[in-house]
Amino acid sequence: MRLTRIITATALVIASLAAVTGISGAVARKTDTRAQKIERGRYLATTMGCNDCHTPGMFYGAPDFARQLSGSELGWSGPWGVSFARNLTPHAQTGIGGWSEAQIVNALRTGVRPDGSTLLPPMPWPNYALLTDADAYAIAAFLKSLPAVEHHVPAVVPPGTAYAGVQLVFPPPPAWDAPRPTSSDHAASGSR
Ligand code: HEC
Repeated sequence: MRLTRIITATALVIASLAAVTGISGAVARKTDTRAQKIERGRYLATTMGCNDCHTPGMFYGAPDFARQLSGSELGWSGPWGVSFARNLTPHAQTGIGGWSEAQIVNALRTGVRPDGSTLLPPMPWPNYALLTDADAYAIAAFLKSLPAVEHHVPAVVPPGTAYAGVQLVFPPPPAWDAPRPTSSDHAASGSR
């Protein structure tokens, strides 16, 4: 009888211990999953070159990671006007704090912002069109985890408008790099 009681008590202790470890294990796993997703996003954003354009100082050999991905004031001038790599931190007014993760993923894969406008070059979104959901959402989670930096990136300068600020201007292409007529152009001009 006494033995049965001891066995029952021991079983109860083991059961409650298991319950406690089970619960804390589940909590730890949940936290890990978000942290792991952010780490995966950080890894992808790094290897995919987001810092090149979006982190100040990157092209000058001195990226400032205290202001990581807070945008750049170096203009990119081409037939599309002058564009600026924008503030990707979650700052509500000057960054993309108001965007949901799904909206970030959509912009990355399709080049379309939540307001329906299209991302200008040199934002290489066509390179990102094939990102899997897991990878695209990991990048979005990483961007959401950044410290919000207040930084108004200059507005896009429309084509044909003079801009006196610092900018990279694309010269006309050398012959080798010039766009070649596509097969549909050939078909249209009857040269096939
Ligand atoms: C070669 C330079 C370049 C690289 C590399 C680059 N971007 Fe961009 N990105 C830009 C430019 C320029 C714009 C602004 C385009 C415009 O004004 O329409 C932009 C815009 C964006 C926007 C829209 C933000 C807004 O407020 O409208 C998002 C989101 C974005 N980039 C995310 C990324 C991510 C994430 C990566 C890496 C996976 C990345 N970009 C890599 C140049 C770049």
